[in-house]
Amino acid sequence: MKSIYSEKVMEHFRNPRNMGEMKNADSIGEVGNPVCGDLMYIYIKVKEENGQEIIADISFQTFGCAAAIATSSMVTELAKGKTLNEALKLTRNDVAESLDGLPPIKMHCSNLAADGLHDAIIKYKEKKE
Ligand code: FES
Repeated sequence: MKSIYSEKVMEHFRNPRNMGEMKNADSIGEVGNPVCGDLMYIYIKVKEENGQEIIADISFQTFGCAAAIATSSMVTELAKGKTLNEALKLTRNDVAESLDGLPPIKMHCSNLAADGLHDAIIKYKEKKE
């Protein structure tokens, strides 16, 4: 049977990047999916470089479906090394496109990853103010 997911989604689901809790995170994004009740955490470590704040390290914990795991994995790859402001601009569509698309029925799952990342960044900025 052919999977409803792209090869890339399956690859990230089987070998998730940056998975696991980060003990000394500077900020933790937390987001729940109202559609299915699944939960995701995004951990970030921030470093100052040339007056810019960079995401030096990032990891995730996802209690969700294959699409949620693949999108979390992808969002950590997209955000790593970016400035906080660049990472804030990453959208749900960027994540889905980088995975060669998601089945329409699974698009809500991809919301978690981008929202979790944004939540971590916003909390970090609020803490600093
Ligand atoms: Fe819950 Fe996908 S079904 S995140």
